[in-house]
Amino acid sequence: MNRNQPKNTYQGGAEQFVGFIRLSSNENSYGPSSDVINEIKKNTKFSNIYPELDGESLRKEISKSYSIKPNQIILGAGSDEVLQMIYATFTKPGDEVVFTKYSFAMYSIYAKNFKCKTRIFDDKKFQFDLDNLLKCVTSKTKILFLANPNNPTGSVFYKKELTKFLNKINKKTLVVLDSAYCEYIDNKNYDDGLKLVSKFPNLIVTRSFSKIFALGGLRVGWGYSNLKNIIKMYEHKKPFNVTRLSCIAAIASLRSKEWLKQNIKKNIDNKKFTLKNISNDAITLIDTTANFVLLEFQNKIIAKKYVKFLNQNKITVRSLASYKLPSHVRMTIGTKADMKEVIRLTNQFDV
Ligand SMILES: Cc1ncc(COP(=O)(O)O)c(C=O)c1O
Repeated sequence: MNRNQPKNTYQGGAEQFVGFIRLSSNENSYGPSSDVINEIKKNTKFSNIYPELDGESLRKEISKSYSIKPNQIILGAGSDEVLQMIYATFTKPGDEVVFTKYSFAMYSIYAKNFKCKTRIFDDKKFQFDLDNLLKCVTSKTKILFLANPNNPTGSVFYKKELTKFLNKINKKTLVVLDSAYCEYIDNKNYDDGLKLVSKFPNLIVTRSFSKIFALGGLRVGWGYSNLKNIIKMYEHKKPFNVTRLSCIAAIASLRSKEWLKQNIKKNIDNKKFTLKNISNDAITLIDTTANFVLLEFQNKIIAKKYVKFLNQNKITVRSLASYKLPSHVRMTIGTKADMKEVIRLTNQFDV
């Protein structure tokens, strides 16, 4: 790479994909549904036309799919951009934001960019106890970011804990509930937070089309909150931030109901298959409720060696060194064929 090339602070998964099994970015390896691909193909000829200013058709489809209000939805080029709009709208330099020690990297990258002070909650053993987390929040806390399920730890909390937490938290603190992986959870006690927005004016839910819907390359995400918050966020929204083809693909994804069900099931089945069949004394496996598992090694040298070994065999997984977990590796659950290959190699891996 050119040494003068400016770099992004965010360290993403490996960029190789042709000829590689990609298990490094929590994408859906099955790819988008055939209906989505057909819609994209049909519409490429309209690429000269600007997108709808505020993605009205997509917001209407989201509203129909989840029975929520279309004017309280704001679209982003990935949920990343929604997070950025939240920072831009609700913080000023010196404001305090809280997130958990092992959490999605963009929370802290934006905190730095927007010159906010950070307070880190130490989620010991990868499970955050919301009662303890509450102790970290003071009247000075502007925003609390919480992903459920969490990336990279996969920890999860359920509706009862969430509503108790929202009832207790200082109402001046905005709670950003990042539900990027929510579709993977098949548990009636789970709550993605959308229906709680009408009750809690300090709640903003963020959602992504990059994970189960397999549109990471098209960059579509959205946020949902009460109208007052959304109106303020619009001051920081670029008019055409989500492309025409991305909106069309997202609409078709939401209509692919049967495909969605099948993909939820495939992830559960392939994850079970992986957990059952990886057997290497050097590795402790950690299950999650999302589309990835964690592999824990005795130390960071062995973890690094494993990532390199897989890479040499054309498989990418994610070292969690940049997440302060150098002895851990995150492995996305791919197709059944992907997982067979990674299991075969992992069982051969010799420290
Ligand atoms: C917890 C969490 N939130 C948000 C995102 C951002 O996703 P996107 O910007 O692709 O919607 C990710 C991406 O990995 C994530 O893991």
